[in-house]
Amino acid sequence: MKLKMMLAAALLMSSTGLGTSAEDPIAVRKAMMKNVGAATGAGFAMVKGKAEFNAAAAELVLRTMNTAALGFGELFPAGSESGGKTIASQKIWDDRAGFNAALAKFAADSAAGIAAKPADLDAFKAVIGAAASNCNACHKAYRTK
Ligand code: HEC
Repeated sequence: MKLKMMLAAALLMSSTGLGTSAEDPIAVRKAMMKNVGAATGAGFAMVKGKAEFNAAAAELVLRTMNTAALGFGELFPAGSESGGKTIASQKIWDDRAGFNAALAKFAADSAAGIAAKPADLDAFKAVIGAAASNCNACHKAYRTK
């Protein structure tokens, strides 16, 4: 039940976030990452046994990551380096190739997780572990805190 509510909240956030994309890329990219954070939390609740493993929920977690990985790169136009409480590092604009490569790896690892169709908790642990290894790696390099 709790898991379903977390995922529903995550989906609601992503749909409200995407509606404002044209005007405010900072708000959209933050909403998108919050959504990824909520999905990842729901995924690790299953990993830790705090929520029962559910294959459909596991797929949704991985799809939320993958959708974000594919769309996130568009949300850093010139002029969005500051303001809106962004914690994006200037390094994104200085090293766009490196940032794009980090996003591509996140997209590939989450896509591999979806393709693996994890049907039990052990299988899911392996793929969410691989996908979530991208979070800290990118945040350390491309976030201010
Ligand atoms: C390729 C880079 C990259 C990857 C991979 C990545 N993030 Fe992020 N994330 C960012 C950036 C950049 C920001 C800052 C956005 C801003 O403030 O403008 C951010 C912000 C966040 C935030 C804060 C959102 C807010 O409220 O402002 C959360 C939570 C988050 N990420 C979770 C995750 C999780 C969980 C994963 C892995 C499953 C992940 N991220 C993977 C780049 C990444």
